[in-house]
Amino acid sequence: MARVAIVTGGTRGIGKAISLSLKDAGYTVAANYAGNEEKARAFSDETGIPAYKWDVGDHEATLAGCRQVEQEVGPIEILVNNAGITRDGTLLKMTFQDWYDVMRINLGGCFNMAKACFPGMKERGWGRIVNIGSINGQAGQYGQVNYAAAKSGIHGFTKALAQEGARFGVTVNAIAPGYIDTDMVAAVPENVLEKIVARIPVGRLGQANEIARGVTFLASEEGGFVTGSTLSINGGQHMY
Ligand code: CAA
Repeated sequence: MARVAIVTGGTRGIGKAISLSLKDAGYTVAANYAGNEEKARAFSDETGIPAYKWDVGDHEATLAGCRQVEQEVGPIEILVNNAGITRDGTLLKMTFQDWYDVMRINLGGCFNMAKACFPGMKERGWGRIVNIGSINGQAGQYGQVNYAAAKSGIHGFTKALAQEGARFGVTVNAIAPGYIDTDMVAAVPENVLEKIVARIPVGRLGQANEIARGVTFLASEEGGFVTGSTLSINGGQHMY
C-alpha cells in the first residue's frame, strides 16, 4: 500500500507543488488548508487530492483533523509542515497580534502537527517529517522579526525532533526556501522585491516545484540517512 502523506497549506503555492510532487512519486496525499475554500475545492477537482480544513495553529483542531485523515485516508507516515503566513512590518509598527499569529501558525503549527503524527510514526517504526523553514529564518529579514523568529524556531525544532526520532526510524529535516514565485512573495512591494532579486546569484525567483523536488527526496526511502539537516534552495542568495 502506498504511504500516506499530509501536506499542511497543501492546496496553494509551494504546498500545492509539494502535494503534486508526492502524488506523482506514488504516495497517497491529503492536503490541509485553513482559509481559501474556493481554491481548495478547485485544487481537489484538479488533482483528485482530498483537502481537509483546519487551522494548524489550533492544537485541538489539529489533533481532530489528523484523526479524521487517518480514518479516511490511512495512517500518516509522511508529514510536511508547510503552512505559513506573513505579517510583515518593522518592529515599531508590528502589533502583538502580528507577532502572535505568525508564531502560533508557523511555529506552533509544526508542534501541533508533530504531536498528532509522531506517536503513530514511532509505533510503526517509520516516518518522515519535512518542515518548511526559510532563508529569512537563517539570515533574518528587515520587517520580519515575527516570521524570521518563527522560521528560525522551525530550524531548531527540526534538529531537536530529529534527535528524538532517529531511533524510531523517523527522520526530521527542513528545507529553507529562498524567494519563490508565490502569492506570498508577490505581496512584497515591487521596489523591495526588485532589490531582493538583484541579490540572488541565479538571477531569478525560485519555482515552487524546485522546493517540492527537495521535499520528495527527503520523504523517500533513499532519504533514510538524512536527518536533522537543512536543505537550502535559494538560488545562492544565502550560502549557509
Ligand atoms: N535594510 C535597511 N533599511 C531598510 C530596508 C532594508 N532591507 N528596507 C527598508 N528599509 C528602510 C527604508 O529605506 C526606510 O527608511 P527611511 O525611513 O529612512 O526612508 C525605512 O526602512 C522604512 O521603510 P518603509 O517605509 O518601506 O517601511 P514600511 O513599514 O512601510 O515597510 C516593510 C517595511 C514591510 C518591511 C517593507 O519594506 C517590506 O515589505 N519588505 C519586504 C519584507 C520581505 O522580504 N518579506 C518577505 C516576504 S516573502 C517570505 O517571507 C517567504 C520567504 O520565506 C522568503
